Amino acid sequence: MRVKFVAGNWKMNGNRASNEALLTDLVPLLAGISGVESVICPPFVYLQQVLSLIGGTKTALGAQDLCQFGNGAYTGGVSAAMLKDSGCSHVIVGHSERRALFGETDALVAEKFAVAREAGLVPVLCVGETLAERESGATEKVVDRQLQAVMQRCGAAALRDAVVAYEPVWAIGTGKTATPEQAQAVHAFIRGRVAAADAAVAAEVRIVYGGSVKAANAEQLFAMADIDGGLIGGAALVAGEFAAICRAAAQKH
Ligand code: 13P
Repeated sequence: MRVKFVAGNWKMNGNRASNEALLTDLVPLLAGISGVESVICPPFVYLQQVLSLIGGTKTALGAQDLCQFGNGAYTGGVSAAMLKDSGCSHVIVGHSERRALFGETDALVAEKFAVAREAGLVPVLCVGETLAERESGATEKVVDRQLQAVMQRCGAAALRDAVVAYEPVWAIGTGKTATPEQAQAVHAFIRGRVAAADAAVAAEVRIVYGGSVKAANAEQLFAMADIDGGLIGGAALVAGEFAAICRAAAQKH
């Protein structure tokens, strides 16, 4: 039985006052929900503030990215060791915004996945196709390429304790959610590709969906056999929405 996983990716949003207001509302709501692993991923500069507000609760701290290099002369970088030292247990790698806007390649994402694991962080690997790729029938090819880059670099067993987030680019921040059936089909495909390398790992790896998940559609998405939770953007900035999404995941058996 895979424990459901819901992470809030705040992206480049928030300030000290709004973070405090959000978490003051959210923390007591999350305290009343069991059976789901919840993670908050704020911008780097707010990791300490968020930790001070969620510390001591079951909710974990994650970062949105990391540098592929270890500590040293890499101006602007934040290493896996620094994230660990700052109280993070998770880190998102390969988000489509990093791939599209910051030029991250499959090879770089695989490297980030590797260094995250080596530091004892749980990587949340994002994969997903653009609208053009979906319309040209290339969804599986693209997702498989992104997945294989990591499996080739780290081995399939590395996915056992990791999380894969299927985030179709066309569904991110657009209000256009994949239907539960569309998402399930890709999730089943991903699990099948992991199973081709290691069936035991495929049974354990959490595969979560991201892309316009809200309280109103979470339950239907999470009801699908291979959807083990969500990676939440916009709705993670609203306490009641994020808590309701966590509740929907917790209810899934
Ligand atoms: P939205 O939930 O805002 O569509 O964002 C999804 C996402 O990119 C989470 O990483």
